Amino acid sequence: MQRLLVTGGCGFIGSNFIRHCLSTRDNVTIINVDKLTYAGNLENLADLEGDARLLFRRGDICDRAFVQQVLADQPVDAVLNFAAESHVDRSILDSGPFVQTNIVGTQVLLDACREAGIGRYVQVSTDEVYGSLGADGLFTEQTPLAPNSPYSASKASADLLVRSYVHTFGFPAVITRCSNNYGPYQFPEKLIPLFISNALNDRPLPVYGKGENVRDWIHVLDHCRGILAAVEHGQTGEVYNFGGKCELKNIDLTRTLLRLLGKPESLIRYVTDRPGHDLRYAIDCSKAERELGWSPQVDFETGLRETIDWYRANSEWVERIQSGEYTSYYERQYGERLGDS
Ligand code: NAD
Ligand code: DAU
Repeated sequence: MQRLLVTGGCGFIGSNFIRHCLSTRDNVTIINVDKLTYAGNLENLADLEGDARLLFRRGDICDRAFVQQVLADQPVDAVLNFAAESHVDRSILDSGPFVQTNIVGTQVLLDACREAGIGRYVQVSTDEVYGSLGADGLFTEQTPLAPNSPYSASKASADLLVRSYVHTFGFPAVITRCSNNYGPYQFPEKLIPLFISNALNDRPLPVYGKGENVRDWIHVLDHCRGILAAVEHGQTGEVYNFGGKCELKNIDLTRTLLRLLGKPESLIRYVTDRPGHDLRYAIDCSKAERELGWSPQVDFETGLRETIDWYRANSEWVERIQSGEYTSYYERQYGERLGDS
């Protein structure tokens, strides 16, 4: 029996991971610890309600006594830390919660896991810790850390803490660094779900700058498969990059989305660029292919079509999110009320 503690399991990737893990592994039980911030949504796991293999504990990973109690109540074999403040634009508006959850929360988890003698810890990190690429080259696990946003600086800080616990205490941690995920249950502040949702409602798509920035897109299930491979086969102290081998300029992605949605390009609106906007991310994931036996499986256009279908079929999920805190964030970020244009 493999017992896992997943933090941030009510978010986009965490909820997809829990579903993937329970559907592909026998004899797994999962404790999901989540604070339920604006991004955490119990609806993301509604289909698993009543499943005895999944237990939910609401709480903050920064709360040392709470984390210690969870680990004392339910001893686990491995801890996977997905919990984070995850949106770059929000980190530019206010970096405070990013420092708190992403750095202090990671430190609290590391201490509690060490005290509890956890056998495997996975830090779910991001390719953004490497900074920005020019026209050529790929991020490898050896690329120096050079984060450019408060979000990526907080994730890089957490990675360095994890590294230091491995070096100093022999703590059994691995770090995974993945590129841009897309798929079902992604909060509609991120590019793909925001643009799908706006286009479906004939609202403008706010492309930052000239849309020349490049991201590497990976289906969330491919990321989840990679994280599971890292839990099962990763070596202590190692970093594993995951990517989708699918580099796209934002403007090209936007045009593809509009084509698949049957919407006109006149919906494109060029808006003020993101401050400090990283130009290009691209990943060399050959180490994960070689050492974990992992590779990305989902073809981008197929995955994007399925994602569009999911957002069409789950418009009420989107509407419930957009009726909450999200409206004030949208106004602050885009200078207009959602639905005004
Ligand atoms: P998300 O914002 O959708 O979900 C984050 C979850 O963490 C939410 O359920 C939230 O309630 C929870 N959470 C936040 N603060 C918490 C706290 N203090 N205590 C407990 N729970 C808390 O994020 P996501 O996109 O699913 O990202 C998950 C992880 O993967 C993050 O660590 C992120 O840095 C990393 N990552 C994301 C991407 C991507 O493209 N989305 C790519 C690479 C890595
Ligand atoms: O690379 C991995 C990272 O990918 C993760 O660590 C982050 O958690 C995740 O949010 C994502 O970061 P990005 O900043 O790359 O994702 P986002 O969806 O916010 O933006 C993708 C690109 O689209 C980026 O170049 C900015 C641009 N963009 C984004 C928004 C929200 C726009 O042009 N307009 C927008 O309204």
